[in-house]
Amino acid sequence: MTAMLGGWRRTHTCGELRAAHVGQTVTLMGWAFRRRDHGGLIFVDLRDREGLTQCVFNPATSGEAHSTAQEVRSEFVLAVQGTVQRRPPGTENPKLPTGEVEVQVSRLKILNESKPLPFPLEEEAAVDEAVRLKYRYLDMRRPQVLRNFVIRDRICRAVRDYLHGQGFIEVETPFLTRSTPEGARDFLVPSRLNRGHFYALPQSPQLFKQLLMVGGFERYFQIVRCFRDEDLRKDRQPEFTQIDIETSFLDRDEFLPIVEGMLVEVFKRVGGIDLPAPFPRLAYDEAIARFGSDKPDLRYGLELSDCSDLFKAAEFQAFAQVVAAGGAVKGLRVPGGGGMSRKDLDDLTEAAKGFGAKGLVWVKVNPDGLQSPVARFLEPVKAPLLSRLAAAPGDLLLLVGDRMPLAAAVLGRLRQEIAQRLKLVPPQEFRVCWVLDFPLVEWNEEERRWDAVHHPFTAPRDEDLPLLDTDPGGARAKAYDLVINGQEAAGGSIRIHQQSVQEKLFKLLGIAPQEARARFGFLLEALEFGAPPMGGIAAGLDRLVALLAGEESIREVIAFPKTQKGTCPLTDAPAPVDPGQLKDLGIRLAEGD
Ligand code: AMO
Repeated sequence: MTAMLGGWRRTHTCGELRAAHVGQTVTLMGWAFRRRDHGGLIFVDLRDREGLTQCVFNPATSGEAHSTAQEVRSEFVLAVQGTVQRRPPGTENPKLPTGEVEVQVSRLKILNESKPLPFPLEEEAAVDEAVRLKYRYLDMRRPQVLRNFVIRDRICRAVRDYLHGQGFIEVETPFLTRSTPEGARDFLVPSRLNRGHFYALPQSPQLFKQLLMVGGFERYFQIVRCFRDEDLRKDRQPEFTQIDIETSFLDRDEFLPIVEGMLVEVFKRVGGIDLPAPFPRLAYDEAIARFGSDKPDLRYGLELSDCSDLFKAAEFQAFAQVVAAGGAVKGLRVPGGGGMSRKDLDDLTEAAKGFGAKGLVWVKVNPDGLQSPVARFLEPVKAPLLSRLAAAPGDLLLLVGDRMPLAAAVLGRLRQEIAQRLKLVPPQEFRVCWVLDFPLVEWNEEERRWDAVHHPFTAPRDEDLPLLDTDPGGARAKAYDLVINGQEAAGGSIRIHQQSVQEKLFKLLGIAPQEARARFGFLLEALEFGAPPMGGIAAGLDRLVALLAGEESIREVIAFPKTQKGTCPLTDAPAPVDPGQLKDLGIRLAEGD
């Protein structure tokens, strides 16, 4: 039998050697990251997953290795054998963990060659994302890319350890299934064996995890891929991963601490960060009122104030009308914002309109009075306005009058923009909170019906049950979102486990009994066989990793992500298929497609 790799066996990684190894004979394997030919000596920085080691080829001591080294180009795969020696004084590299030493190479074997790379792997090199994704396997050789996947792996491990410690069991659920209730478009998979029938890829394991509770598993989790055909952004992918959890016999306030414990464990183990628990809780209404968002970023202040009462009977007609019609005037104080230029203010006004406002009132608080296009109308309410917003000279005040929650939402968006612009967002800080008591349903004006805010299996708060008949819009759900730095990191709810309540909700949502049976019949039937009280949550793993890795886009923490258009530059998916495959499936494309 021939020995592996022609008798070569790696003894150390390229990140391992230190002064303590000086004098040892070692064998390293890896990629030639950089090669420098100094006429006499040749230096190759050999790289593997663990790091870089400088290898020296000296023609005087190892002629053969040196002459082979002359053939080495970037990214050739090498095996080197040699002796660890201290680098000559003055040539140490304190930036490299292995920077005190080098390997004086006696034998070199080229394990494989490489074509010149389409882009340099140096950290500083700015490379177009499409090119990086097309050659993702080369991009991955960059240590900063690998780092994100090490973080991802450590998070998954911390999650598994923690949940196992809490008595959860990991169970897989099907990918080839039926439509789930998250509300995005489904990806469909045609069935060859059942022509004209389609599987839907799950938008989440929602229905199955509830069945696992009916099945008596009590505590389930899964790190699982979910599929949603929706418009993509930097924090959204058509396939993404959830840490999916469901439990039995716990009410909200018993369940949330379990999730908090998981986050505390992950942040501690992976990032060395202490998240103070219990996490602060905000009711949905309060989050909207104070931050203009159900995903408030708590890393900075800039809270909104309600000024509606000040304008009720004021001379400022535009605002008075809004208030009379049941809307609100919301105000935002930007401390020291009085220095903004006319252009800045025009930009903010444009932004406000882009967010749906009819306009934006800006007010500069000058030492000698208010400066604003509508200063004349504000004069009568000047004193209470300044006091309501705790304004001081030098501040900028922004006011939006509109129906709620639009008025708050517009200022909420401006709040974020201004925080970025004025650099009020502390880097490397994590602020976590729960947002609770979401409305159960929201009115869909276009379709003229109520839609579930979370999903139709979310339970209303017990005390709000009667509102389903009288004032559905006022009913709150036992739903919760976990928000980290203004991002929705997780969402879940306590479920309806009683058939009668479920039927009531379907009726409210305009889902006819036959339709409910057709879509979720299997779950409804299961609920009739002694379903336990249950509730759960799903955390977006990709978002969590991106947060801990300090990345803006979740594409940076997904091994083979899709572009904004949902394509994969590496495999060229999606792609046309062979007509024979379509024929097998009984599918014909419409003319023109
Ligand atoms: P929800 O739809 O809120 O809940 O999803 C849970 C979490 O998944 C993440 N997420 C995404 N991440 C990346 N790309 C996407 N396209 C994407 N969509 C969602 C978010 C979100 O908070 N079945 C319910 C959970 C439950 O009720 O237990 C569900 O899927 O971080």
